[in-house]
Amino acid sequence: MARKNVNLKKLISQMTLEQKVSQLIQLNAMNFAKSATEITGPAQQWGLSDEWLNTMGSTLNFADAEEMIKIQKNHMEKDPNGIPMMFMMDVIHGYRTIYPIPLGLAASFDPELVYECTRMAAKEAAAGGVNVTFTPMVDYVRDARWGRVLETAGEDPYLTSVIGATQVRAFQGDDLSDKENLAACVKHYAAYGGAEAGRDYNTVELSERILREYYLPSYKACIDAGVKMIMPSFNSLNGVPSAANSWLMKQVLKKEWKFRGTVITDYNAIGELKTHGIAENMREAAKMAFENGCDIEMMSNGYHDHLCELVRDGTIDEKKVDEAVMRVLKLKKELGLFDDPYRGASPEREKALALCPEHRAIARRAANESAVLLKNEGVLPFSKDLKKVAVIGHFAECNEIKGFWSCHGKDSECVTVADGIRAKLPGAEIITAYGCSPLWNDKNTDGFSEAVAAAKEADAVVLCLGEPQTYSGEGNSRADIRLPGMQEELARAVVAANPNCALVLFNGRPLVLTDINCPAILDMWFPGSEGGNSAADLLFGDAVPCGKITMSFPKAVGQCPIYYNHPSTGRPKWTAEDVHQAYASNYIGCGNLPLYSFGHGLSYTKFEYESMELSDTKMSAEKPLTVKITVKNVGNYAAKETVQLYFRDIYASTVRPVQQLAAFEKIALAPGEKKTVTFTVTEEMLRFYNAECKHVSEAGEFVIFTGYADHRYKEARFFLK
Ligand code: BGC
Repeated sequence: MARKNVNLKKLISQMTLEQKVSQLIQLNAMNFAKSATEITGPAQQWGLSDEWLNTMGSTLNFADAEEMIKIQKNHMEKDPNGIPMMFMMDVIHGYRTIYPIPLGLAASFDPELVYECTRMAAKEAAAGGVNVTFTPMVDYVRDARWGRVLETAGEDPYLTSVIGATQVRAFQGDDLSDKENLAACVKHYAAYGGAEAGRDYNTVELSERILREYYLPSYKACIDAGVKMIMPSFNSLNGVPSAANSWLMKQVLKKEWKFRGTVITDYNAIGELKTHGIAENMREAAKMAFENGCDIEMMSNGYHDHLCELVRDGTIDEKKVDEAVMRVLKLKKELGLFDDPYRGASPEREKALALCPEHRAIARRAANESAVLLKNEGVLPFSKDLKKVAVIGHFAECNEIKGFWSCHGKDSECVTVADGIRAKLPGAEIITAYGCSPLWNDKNTDGFSEAVAAAKEADAVVLCLGEPQTYSGEGNSRADIRLPGMQEELARAVVAANPNCALVLFNGRPLVLTDINCPAILDMWFPGSEGGNSAADLLFGDAVPCGKITMSFPKAVGQCPIYYNHPSTGRPKWTAEDVHQAYASNYIGCGNLPLYSFGHGLSYTKFEYESMELSDTKMSAEKPLTVKITVKNVGNYAAKETVQLYFRDIYASTVRPVQQLAAFEKIALAPGEKKTVTFTVTEEMLRFYNAECKHVSEAGEFVIFTGYADHRYKEARFFLK
């Protein structure tokens, strides 16, 4: 029965209190069907009655269109109010066709590519029956030890905001009832990425000023882009877990940002209010979360067990429950679920879209544009005329390269590096050797001699090392972020045997690569379904690397947290990077800079930054500054370059970052071609939070430069009036 014009107010007035509360509960699909996907967190059996189950509001992590249709059909037959269920899932970097992890995709510095990949994911997921995705994840990060950096865009708040807002627009489109669109849910509000010591779920203590300047803008950008849902984070922020944090939820989210969409807790986050030790029992936890605006409770039993009683004993006003239910039903209506509860779910279409040639092509292009050439001492690209190539290391023949959070992607559908090279060089002999495992506690080196022998007899070596894909992602923090196991030793042995060697890396975070002596390093991240083909494209010059890292690669783990846009100190280091300076802010035995800075990434061609011209030496709110940067491709390959613009506010009433990204643009240049990129610097871009947490700009002198973090190709100065 189509109910496009359903009157939600009337509908709510006809519902029992239990039925209303049921709309505010989200359960894993395993409660409704047998074939559920991976479960995270403590899924408990609560002894739910059929009455509750039949009126449940939403479900997460189901299998596919067929299962969705089955669950929804069963539900529609039983729900006395005829309210469809809403189906949610983590569609993070692809549904079935998997593209690079978000940290990789961000390195493309290409919002159009992010849009294209996200549209592909939206189409596949919508055909699979998904209504809402728990994306974008826009947590700002500074610490590579944290396993969830893989889901982020890295350490710049502006880039994180641009990418998050792009994903919102790509998932939701202009019309949410369009069956190829999904509702987006921005997460994890707030500052989940500030976990102390990079340990997942750990405490976050941050001043309001730093929060507003670095951590909050990306959530706000997604809200401005119209995101329909938001998820408070697990962590405590300045002493109070987000789901119960009234400053975050009421003051900032609802009052300042005027967010009117739906709030969903993270997995069991209400249950964890008890574990955190801020709620005495589940009744109190439910009350706290509800009163702070959490509409839907994901996977814990606070609302089920206590919300009705909290209303009946007068603690919570039923009107508040009605308002929360209204937000949930409004979203269902906007999605068109009342009109068509199955909304785009189609087993045939789901199958036809999954890994179709067009989608594989997008995934391959995305992997090509996300890979970062960290180092290249004349080794890459390899010639396609090579006769014998050794592909060595755990990841040589390994298809476990899709990365954490890859929804319905399958390892068996990912192309390995060895297969990618075999396809690229049909006439060459490809020899493979395993070398050693990437497990941190596996010290076995029995495979070294075979690897060294293979390296010796080959014309070139592709060494494929990294972290297992389970070493990053939720709950997977690392205290030592070098290559795990004996892989560093393997790299040294292989390079000694044959220095014509390129290291291809698979990793979900920046790694410490200080002791790696390979002459070339190509970081593929976790590239997804087309990983091996993409690696082959890049290694043999059919694609030219153009990614730039968006998180610093430290020299030593002890530098963490390390981020390019750090505030200046009163005692900065002046000496050479490797010379310790007495009574200055630096380390003994390790410099302050990362091994590879934010914005770093090489190409096979060479770009010359010819000039940077400013429209004036003074600017004001009324008169923005125009900056023209001319870049020439002086090498032999057609390639892309991300032109980056940074500034530093030299004097201000609070200490300012030593550099911050203002704008970027990715351009394509043929050999010999030159282009001028024009940026506009407005007064608004120069604002910051002062000691009173007011967002202001202050008159004075600024330095502006192009290049990448810690590296100035061209610089100039101007005054803000
Ligand atoms: C994660 C969220 C995710 C949710 C649902 C949680 O454990 O923190 O990012 O959206 O599970 O799968």
